[in-house]
Amino acid sequence: MQLRSTPFLLALAAGMASAADLRGYFEGNCGGGYLQCGNVGAGTCCIILRENGLRGSPSIAVVFAGTGTQLFGYQRTRDGNSCGSIAAQKATGGLSYTCLDIPAGTGEFSGTRWYPPGLFLKRSPATSCAPTSTEECTGLATPDLVVLNDGHAFGLTGVDDATTEVLYAFAANGSTVADLPESVAGLEVDGEGVEARVRMMRN
Ligand SMILES: *[C@@H]1O[C@H](CO)[C@@H](O)[C@H](O)[C@H]1NC(C)=O
Repeated sequence: MQLRSTPFLLALAAGMASAADLRGYFEGNCGGGYLQCGNVGAGTCCIILRENGLRGSPSIAVVFAGTGTQLFGYQRTRDGNSCGSIAAQKATGGLSYTCLDIPAGTGEFSGTRWYPPGLFLKRSPATSCAPTSTEECTGLATPDLVVLNDGHAFGLTGVDDATTEVLYAFAANGSTVADLPESVAGLEVDGEGVEARVRMMRN
């Protein structure tokens, strides 16, 4: 036999993923533009705060995940933990994607994580991390991509905080690529993916 089963292939066969994308949207129901932590492992907290931590996201999504993946949305606790207190949880079911709105009147999500099937909402901050033997809950990620309402995407890796905040502000107020100043327009990435991202948008 030339093709041996590797753990990777087994994981695919079982519908499991070792990494997925987490998104924090600027509107409810995963509408419009978003911030994305790409390719994050289970249990890593994607921090989706902006405006110096004053604003978060009314809706979040996990994308390119395995079936049954558990998406958790958090609010920040006083100790500054952006994944400190669970606000909502949802499973992808038979899909590789799910969208989760924050319960009405609760504010906004400050962070999000995903876990493999089988973990359920625990309210206590001490256990809200719900690590299993294989998943840590100490990892932190900040968005590496910001996507505008029109599907144009901008890379944030190596970009300074001030420029990142400018991009966040344009994305959050529904600006399109034509509205961007030249200083940030050059950060555009993955132009071929614009149409696919627009098709995935719900508004
Ligand atoms: C959107 O935000 C940017 C950056 O803060 C600002 O320059 C622009 O005027 C805003 N556009 C609208 C329509 O509010």
